Amino acid sequence: MSAATAYHETYARWRKEPEAFWGDAASAIDWIRQPDAVFDAAEGAYGRWFPGALCNTCWNAVDRHAASRGEQAALIYDSPVTGAKRTLTYRDLLGEVEALGAVLQDMGVAKGDRVIVYMPMIPEAVIAMLACARIGAVHSVVFGGFAAKELATRIDDAKPKAILTASCGIEPNRVVAYKPLLDEAIALSSSKPDGVLLLQRAQAAAGMVEGRDLDWAQAVAAAKAAGRKAPCVPVASTDPLYVLYTSGTTGKPKGVVRDNGGHMVALAWSMANMYGARPGEVFWAASDVGWVVGHSYIVYAPLLIGATTVVYEGKPVGTPDAGAFWRMISEYDIRILFTAPTAFRAIKKEDPRAELLARYDMSRFRALFLAGERADPDTVAWAERILGVPVIDHWWQTETGWPIVGNPLGLGGLPVKHGSPTVPMPGWDVQVVDEGGKPVPPNTMGSIVVKLPLPPGALPTLWQADDRFKESYLSAFPGFYNTSDAGFVDEDGYLFIMGRTDDIINVAGHRLSTGGMEEVLASHPDVAECAVIGIKDALKGEQPCGFVVLKSGVNRSPLEIEKEIVQLVRDKIGPVAAFKIAITVNRLPKTRSGKILRGTMKKIADGDTWSMPATIDDPAVLDEIASALHGKGVV
Ligand code: COA
Ligand code: AMP
Repeated sequence: MSAATAYHETYARWRKEPEAFWGDAASAIDWIRQPDAVFDAAEGAYGRWFPGALCNTCWNAVDRHAASRGEQAALIYDSPVTGAKRTLTYRDLLGEVEALGAVLQDMGVAKGDRVIVYMPMIPEAVIAMLACARIGAVHSVVFGGFAAKELATRIDDAKPKAILTASCGIEPNRVVAYKPLLDEAIALSSSKPDGVLLLQRAQAAAGMVEGRDLDWAQAVAAAKAAGRKAPCVPVASTDPLYVLYTSGTTGKPKGVVRDNGGHMVALAWSMANMYGARPGEVFWAASDVGWVVGHSYIVYAPLLIGATTVVYEGKPVGTPDAGAFWRMISEYDIRILFTAPTAFRAIKKEDPRAELLARYDMSRFRALFLAGERADPDTVAWAERILGVPVIDHWWQTETGWPIVGNPLGLGGLPVKHGSPTVPMPGWDVQVVDEGGKPVPPNTMGSIVVKLPLPPGALPTLWQADDRFKESYLSAFPGFYNTSDAGFVDEDGYLFIMGRTDDIINVAGHRLSTGGMEEVLASHPDVAECAVIGIKDALKGEQPCGFVVLKSGVNRSPLEIEKEIVQLVRDKIGPVAAFKIAITVNRLPKTRSGKILRGTMKKIADGDTWSMPATIDDPAVLDEIASALHGKGVV
């Protein structure tokens, strides 16, 4: 990468004049009414961006490009699991979004109302999100791999006026019928939506509930035939665009709020400066619209700059082979790919010499970006070797909406250090501190915190839970946002992310709460106590492993109970939890004050060196854990 990087001067400029910096970046956006100020420190939990402004995110993502680049592809859909392929130009996309917006308004959805989107990776999922943005409704997308109960929790919290769904999602090994899950979730929740709009897919027909469910295709066709077009509704810059639920430290997920104005400004800035992406190019985030990567870099960011985005309904391997990504890149002239390291580990496992790559023309491919979990140096080095382009690790969270730390290719980039996502982006004053909040010297592990205010695009609060927001993120280190990641900064200012300080684990790039899983295990009638830890996994980074102590007097086969527990997590949280290992033990290792020693259990399971905790109640329990893990073939 170029030695002549503009990173240092850009970061310094932001430090010196943060408001002027973001004020300039805001010129990339069409405003209906200009902001009164760039930032108002008195509003919200730590201030709000672009107060007083009126805008519409759908206008900026679709309408303005439909006028200037109407025949350019806005969205490419490629579905190896169904064989379908479809391209929508900006003009097509505008027509779809206007019609669906009108259908939503007919369903009674108005500005500020929430709409849950529970859909697979098909263009209609993107159209649904944009249609909500268009009419000022707040979308809340729920990932298809979650079970009915998780969906119900989100319905209860968001209280949606309407739910948009499809009859099914398609996994390589099965068709996932969504409608029974949705019906169960609605039955479980105390807040009932007025209407459900359902897209029937050829792979599964869903039953309709009279008086509540509407057929998507018919409703949209009728709206189009009647020439109905919902106009863009002006919203405040600070109004919510969406709520995206993410794992917290309990079973109750956190509703991360994203605003309109700051979000657009930050994403547009990141596309040019972080990713080096240009209008008219094809940018592919191989994720799912159910995750933050999908929100930011499948839906909004590429469209905001007039690039072409890709909706891929498939996997990196097995649909049909480990050349799937290369096929996509060459077929659609994709210049930039963004995915999770786990996808590359999966490809490397299937095709270690990357023999399938030779079949495809990758000559115009420019860069690979990785995020969502730690990018292990082996995988990064392998990807660099086979692709011959920059491979860039960058670190961010659902909460932040865009990268905190990265290697800004658009600014010329910096030398890569494997294992590090490189340096903070403008907007982020990242510090590593000890338990008392005091900065630690270089190469010393500590908690990673960000000095307030957070930049545009980051969450202003949690959905209708300001106190939980402050308590979860702002209270541990006053004046700072607590990322709950731990790591260190080296002597060159490069950040290294080493893991979470809470009970969140990352399984195949999916963020999960072990606390939430423990709640499920504890609900089994035969379980007295339990502990769930994330253990190392060569493919998925981590996988959950649950230990259970049975109630005294239970004399059923532990194997049978373990199977029931595995099924229970699948039923209550969903297949995405990938919970496959349950181990019965006689007791759990604890401190003398009764705290379960999960950290030591993890070290034993991972085969790492560990030392006997001084406060342990009975050291012999750790041997029992080790032999139970051996017994299950885990270590
Ligand atoms: N709907 C329903 N079920 C889903 C689903 C969805 N949208 N997505 C995943 N699942 C299911 C899978 O079918 C699997 O079920 P199974 O237990 O019956 O096999 C389970 O959830 C676990 O899925 P996953 O952990 O993704 O494993 P996998 O074996 O299906 O695939 C990889 C492994 C590495 C290929 C895959 O995880 C991958 O491509 N990951 C990319 C990560 C990513 O996009 N992260 C987003 C942040 S960038
Ligand atoms: P999510 O909210 O799902 O994006 O998950 C955020 C968490 O994933 C972070 O807090 C980190 O623990 C982890 N994570 C994301 N990106 C990286 C990265 N590049 N390196 C290490 N960990 C990462």
